[in-house]
Amino acid sequence: MSKLKLTIPMCVIAFTLSTGTQAGDFDSQIEARQSWMNLLGYHSGILGNMARGRMDYDADLATASAKNMALAAQMNNASMWPMGSDMSANDNTVAKAELWQNFADAGQHLSDLASATKTLEMNAGNGLEALQASMKAVGEACSGCHRQFRAKR
Ligand code: HEC
Repeated sequence: MSKLKLTIPMCVIAFTLSTGTQAGDFDSQIEARQSWMNLLGYHSGILGNMARGRMDYDADLATASAKNMALAAQMNNASMWPMGSDMSANDNTVAKAELWQNFADAGQHLSDLASATKTLEMNAGNGLEALQASMKAVGEACSGCHRQFRAKR
């Protein structure tokens, strides 16, 4: 972001300051929620690699990653999604404005993720097949929300 801002001509900066900043107001919230997503992505990457045979199955590691995903899914991160922090007014996010018009749907995807990761946590250490079986619902919870509320980069 800082690199981008340096390239903005001075007149634009003056304009932005005099009219009250739009972009930039929500940087910390956007960064935090993307970090949260990356944490989920990191652990689901490990589990996905094991499930697809790209990495040896390891019951302890699978259990740890599944538990971390379940914990992350239970966090109350509502403060990371303030009104106005969508991609129409901020260029560092791909969260669609629709998310704020359908907050109940977003909550449903999140509770789907919470229950799918709970099941995953219980099963991930019980062998490769059990891991594979319980990853499916997790993947669906992620992609269900992404299809509806995340734009392509
Ligand atoms: C409640 C809806 C929802 C759920 C559930 C969800 N995501 Fe996301 N995800 C989003 C949105 C919206 C963005 C875009 C965030 C932004 O750019 O501000 C995103 C972005 C991401 C990103 C990119 C982060 C970045 O650096 O820009 C990754 C990786 C990701 N999600 C992984 C996952 C994984 C893995 C799961 C499931 C384990 C998951 N997400 C579940 C809504 C969701």
